[in-house]
Amino acid sequence: MSDIRCIGIGTGGGDVLGLNAVIRALVKAAILKYKWKVIGIPDGFDGLIWPERAFERTLKSVSGILPRGGTILGTTNRGNPFNYKTTQNGQESVRDISDQVIANAKKLGMDAIIAVGGDGSQKIALELFRKGVKIVAVPKTIDNDLCATDVTFGFDTAVTTATDAVDKIHTTAESHHRAMVIEVMGRDAGWIALHAGIAGGAPVILIPEIPFTMQNICDYVKQREGYGKRFTIVVIAEGIKLPPEMKHMGRGLPVGNMMGDVIGLLSRKDVLSVLGHIQRGGSPTPYDRVLATRFGVAAVDLIAAGGFGKTVCLKGEHIQAVDIVDAIGQMKAVEPHRELVQAARAIGICFGD
Ligand code: F6P
Repeated sequence: MSDIRCIGIGTGGGDVLGLNAVIRALVKAAILKYKWKVIGIPDGFDGLIWPERAFERTLKSVSGILPRGGTILGTTNRGNPFNYKTTQNGQESVRDISDQVIANAKKLGMDAIIAVGGDGSQKIALELFRKGVKIVAVPKTIDNDLCATDVTFGFDTAVTTATDAVDKIHTTAESHHRAMVIEVMGRDAGWIALHAGIAGGAPVILIPEIPFTMQNICDYVKQREGYGKRFTIVVIAEGIKLPPEMKHMGRGLPVGNMMGDVIGLLSRKDVLSVLGHIQRGGSPTPYDRVLATRFGVAAVDLIAAGGFGKTVCLKGEHIQAVDIVDAIGQMKAVEPHRELVQAARAIGICFGD
């Protein structure tokens, strides 16, 4: 029998579509299946610095949130209790306030915590676990670059939004015979670009995992023109590594801007669209809602089973759990030699290499 009576739940890092779905599943499973009390921790681990801001989450409080974007708990991608930064009189100081955070969680009556977050939040969860906190993690990121899980919720919605943008940009690209660039998110991984590029029928996809040259892209644009395709859509992952000939260009600009300028110059065609946070907005796809729900229920079950220090994950068709220590610090990158990239190449998609 589990000695858990009350759990705390929090969301950390960038928002993704499906966070509210996971919160709803956590609250419902905890209350309906185990009769636990659930306390919502606002704004990631920051919420435990000010315990008076945390309050109980009931079935009523999660009603209607399934299709909603964002997180009803709030989030931050800065708060780290082991490395807590404050500024006083212009002076920045860094402190370890983890003891205070742990004491506050106890004061609030939390027997265990479920932390929903990406790599950074999972690292903090691991540190708290090492200090004795009964904690379980739920992975999330639109980038889909966490090595422990085949898929994270948020990714499917981001790909759907990016694909929709590629579909829509076809209209003008075709009508005006333009080369058009769409930059998508993904940090150092090319998953969103690869999936949205294939799904949207983009002839060129540039991802961080495959080095490219401008010459190859321009040759490809010309080659397309040779057989009557007078437009080209280039889907670019934000994390691409610029080729040496572009290294001198404006640092700090989105790579899409630079690529748009160069492609425009070389092919006398261009237009740029940086999708940005639109990819994290709107309503989650059914896939993300289902995955978030499964992760939420699995995390609650993990707490009940005493599987602390673990994170839930999807392996093939199955929800599993792995030690957080094995789930962090290692990025899951696109593997250029695997089937997905090869399938894209087989239908003529150019990666600029
Ligand atoms: O990791 C998720 C992500 O959306 C990345 O794709 C992107 O690079 C980054 O977060 C943007 O972060 P922020 O919301 O802090 O601007």
